[in-house]
Amino acid sequence: MCGIVGYVGHEKAVDVLIGGLQRLEYRGYDSAGIAVLNQGGMHLARSVGKVRQLADLVYRDWDAQFIAAARVGIAHTRWATHGPPIERNAHPQVDGAGRIAMVHNGIIENYKALQQRLQAGGHVFKSDTDSEVLAHLIGEYYTDGNDLLRAVCAALGQVEGTYGIAVLACDQPDRLVVARRGSPIVLGLGHDETIVASDASAIVAHTDQVIYLNDDDVAVVGADGVEMRNIHNVPVSREVSRIDWDAKAAEKDGFDHFMLKEIFEQPEALRNTIRGRLDQRQATAIISGLALSPREMADIQRVVLMGCGTSLHAAMVGEYFFEDLADLPADVEQAAEFRYRNPIIQSRDLAIAISQSGETADTLAAVREAKHKGALVAGVCNVVGSTIARETGLGVYLHAGPEIGVASTKAFTSQLLVLFMMALKFGRCRRLSREVGLGLCDEIEKIPELVRKVIDHNDLIAEVAAAYSQAEDFFYIGRGYLYPAALEGALKLKEISYIHAEGYHAAELKHGPIALLQENVPVMALLCDVPGKEKTVGNVEECKARRAPVVAIVTEGDEAAAEYADHAIPVPRTSKYLAPLVSVVAMQIFAYHVARLRGCEIDQPRNLAKSVTVE
Ligand code: G6P
Repeated sequence: MCGIVGYVGHEKAVDVLIGGLQRLEYRGYDSAGIAVLNQGGMHLARSVGKVRQLADLVYRDWDAQFIAAARVGIAHTRWATHGPPIERNAHPQVDGAGRIAMVHNGIIENYKALQQRLQAGGHVFKSDTDSEVLAHLIGEYYTDGNDLLRAVCAALGQVEGTYGIAVLACDQPDRLVVARRGSPIVLGLGHDETIVASDASAIVAHTDQVIYLNDDDVAVVGADGVEMRNIHNVPVSREVSRIDWDAKAAEKDGFDHFMLKEIFEQPEALRNTIRGRLDQRQATAIISGLALSPREMADIQRVVLMGCGTSLHAAMVGEYFFEDLADLPADVEQAAEFRYRNPIIQSRDLAIAISQSGETADTLAAVREAKHKGALVAGVCNVVGSTIARETGLGVYLHAGPEIGVASTKAFTSQLLVLFMMALKFGRCRRLSREVGLGLCDEIEKIPELVRKVIDHNDLIAEVAAAYSQAEDFFYIGRGYLYPAALEGALKLKEISYIHAEGYHAAELKHGPIALLQENVPVMALLCDVPGKEKTVGNVEECKARRAPVVAIVTEGDEAAAEYADHAIPVPRTSKYLAPLVSVVAMQIFAYHVARLRGCEIDQPRNLAKSVTVE
């Protein structure tokens, strides 16, 4: 959700900033902009569309000598919140005098009141954004012309809402000031250079030494290091962390799309998720990030699983895992709703926040609310050092590697696996026998291979996809463990192919949606050979009676199930626990090929962003 990059150092700032934006483009891609300084002053450019368009404009229109000389700058790739994606709403936004340029991620909630006050003082606004108001406010406080830090702190003191910002002033060409509340900012400390970014992917090419800003941190960023303050301009100290993934992991590696690459690398990602986490001797999982004694685990009385989007679907599967394996009552919370209801949380509840990015604003707000209500809160995140991972302190990393495609794939399967292992661990501290535990450990070890077998059917799935690529509506149905899988399958299809797709519990179809079925409205039926299949077969019959074409995900060799469908996609035989995992992989591949045939922008679908850091 908007990507920010900043640079102060010895390299050409324009090259570093454009390169950084390209790595952050998954965060937003409706418009982009850049401002850089050298002794000759500030150059600023903004354009609608992708970073590529901005780069073309800058390298074409800007003086080559200026580009070669500029060593300081800020840049932004936008996902519109206030104001449509047009040039004047792109960032950087500047103050009234044109001395200050700022990039912003987040929402200034009281911007109307601030704007009116500034307008009364003669300020004229050129954009429809909340961000421009903050740029003007900083400019307003930048009176003595030499203390940018003080001006930023004073302005932020007036602001309600969330922000990650990077600010530069024309007359201070050796520094940036950055700040965060609610929207992530990471500082990369290189040799005679510092890179600022919304996340580490824009930094890894330069350094592995980073500082994650906390909320209300402000930093003065120079080539030779950073000076950390809080919003009251009081010095604070923040530790330097090391990031351990390299830039290569975020490359397409010969694949046409990141999404396909990430689908195909799931066996490896899952292997990394499992690594070091199985204890065959005790027939359990090792979840060191949970840091609870067996007694404390046995003491937990309920699990609350929270997430958004794909992570919410993982939470829904997790609910079944915890109930079935750990004998623990489990509830799923749509994270955005959590703090606006009055959820009942008790002291022995464990809230588990599931988030690939670890930055989703709604999930983060739910984490804070659950903590406030006294729950123990754990994170299941992929991005190391992300806000949710840091704020929960307790939790498990997926270790799935960077996920760049906006539609989540490998993070989902790793989330299921982590939740499965957590449920096993809790189960073994409670009533799950050693024998059953051993069986589950065996199943876990086989997961990467099972997923590889699904991927081996890529060509066949592509053929099936071709038969449905012209559909305009699609229903996905499943029950039991395959119900959340149906929701996830439908989400994948609508996200990347723009086909209207709905996931339903197979039994729920007849309570309304069945009215929409006809010969041009296909149904994806999840018919794996696990409990509930016979009932779903009955629902498939109901669909066929309405002449809806049926694609079915079936267990390999289950010819009888395949017979019910117009097209069948085989997945390997698994227990009911892993049926959602293998079926979702098949549906990811299906959605990918449908979207490809429709000529869609698979890695960056319209209107979406990978990491949604606004409510
Ligand atoms: C966005 C993405 C989804 C993702 C959701 C939750 O909407 O487009 O793919 O599932 O956010 O993200 P998280 O990082 O919290 O898992």
